[in-house]
Amino acid sequence: MKVVLGVSGGIAAYKACELLRLFTESGHEVRVVPTREALKFVGAPTWAALSGNPVSAEVWDDVHEVPHVRIGKQADLVVVAPATADVLARAAHGLAGDLLTNTLLTATCPVVFAPAMHTEMWQHPATRANVETLRERGAVVIDPAVGRLTGADTGPGRLPDPAEIFEVCLRVLRGRPRDLAGRKVVVSAGGTREAIDPVRYLGNRSSGRQGYALARTAAARGAEVTLVAANVALPDPAGAKVVRVESAYELREAVLAAAGDADAVVMAAAVADFRPATRHEAKIKKTDGEPEPIFLAKNPDILAELGTLRREAQAAEARSGGAARPLAGPEPGDVMRRRERGAYPEVIVGFAAETHDVLANGQAKLARKGCDLLVVNQVGEGLAFGTPDNAATVLVAGGDPVEVPFGPKEALADVVWDLVAARLP
Ligand code: CTP
Repeated sequence: MKVVLGVSGGIAAYKACELLRLFTESGHEVRVVPTREALKFVGAPTWAALSGNPVSAEVWDDVHEVPHVRIGKQADLVVVAPATADVLARAAHGLAGDLLTNTLLTATCPVVFAPAMHTEMWQHPATRANVETLRERGAVVIDPAVGRLTGADTGPGRLPDPAEIFEVCLRVLRGRPRDLAGRKVVVSAGGTREAIDPVRYLGNRSSGRQGYALARTAAARGAEVTLVAANVALPDPAGAKVVRVESAYELREAVLAAAGDADAVVMAAAVADFRPATRHEAKIKKTDGEPEPIFLAKNPDILAELGTLRREAQAAEARSGGAARPLAGPEPGDVMRRRERGAYPEVIVGFAAETHDVLANGQAKLARKGCDLLVVNQVGEGLAFGTPDNAATVLVAGGDPVEVPFGPKEALADVVWDLVAARLP
């Protein structure tokens, strides 16, 4: 495929070198079109050497080849990474003062913008309006990641990991649907840690990969994603809002806060069923005698709680003759949205890791927890935990189970979102 990599003038321009390599190493033909400002961060020889193609920011070079029209028209994909506030503004308004903006005006292929800028610039009403305009026209504008920016400040505005941008581009190239556009989804991922004392905890082996794949694919399909991540050491999925938590109680708080106006909640996190009954304020010291036992207390079952909340809301709805509960919300639009369909997620998805009697245990759990879908995987002996691949059976309330063969966790994520999308009104 012919890919145009637009690079605009932000410090994250150096990360576009890695994105370029990901494209070329997977066999794509890449033409880099930097802005003049981008060339102050990374020079033309670097782009030319890495892409194997000529590089210019100007429409005045090689004029006989009419590059300002040809490059855009021949492209299968244009990705601008990093996209500065300035380039977003110029693209939104159709300005054409350099080769990149000319290319954006002549491209008929899909366009992906990966913005990177300071938080204030990203949140400025002018940038918000420009992003809105570009999205309305069909461009994919990835939300920037949250994290360390240039200097000491942190916040939303960081360029997503090049591998994350690459994944979004591949999905756009493959023409995957954006069938979750306008939907809000919550995904929990990782494994909770239950503190014993300030240095020790009870935990589990969950890497968070499956939850991250779910968040990444939902964002790529257009959803607004809140990812509640418990102790995960993976790069933020492009386009997801990440809320970091440690314990089951923190995870519960974050999930319930986001679930109120979500269309779907997917509980992929491995939540500890028990926590130490007492958390020692000081580190437990070795003693000469026998070690003290650790007593456990039960944690709340968040998935079951979501199911119960939904059942109660539906019962209240039925009692009031079908009208949804009147709810207060931060925005009038939110209240309307929530009133239209009640304040509970339309679709609730659970995960179950089983070591034996996988299907029987799964069916019982689906019923017990009151969810719509239950993704059951067999664990142990190197299966599922920490690996990039997974196989699973998705149990469907009131329907036939769906077998997902061994493959990338993204493929399983897509099956889950297909089933979720089918259940959304
Ligand atoms: N889960 C949850 N809150 C908990 C425990 C689990 O929300 N305290 C969710 C998980 O995120 C997962 C699902 O419930 O989606 C299944 O978790 P699992 O631990 O397998 O279920 P249990 O009810 O603990 O069943 P069992 O211990 O019998 O396996």
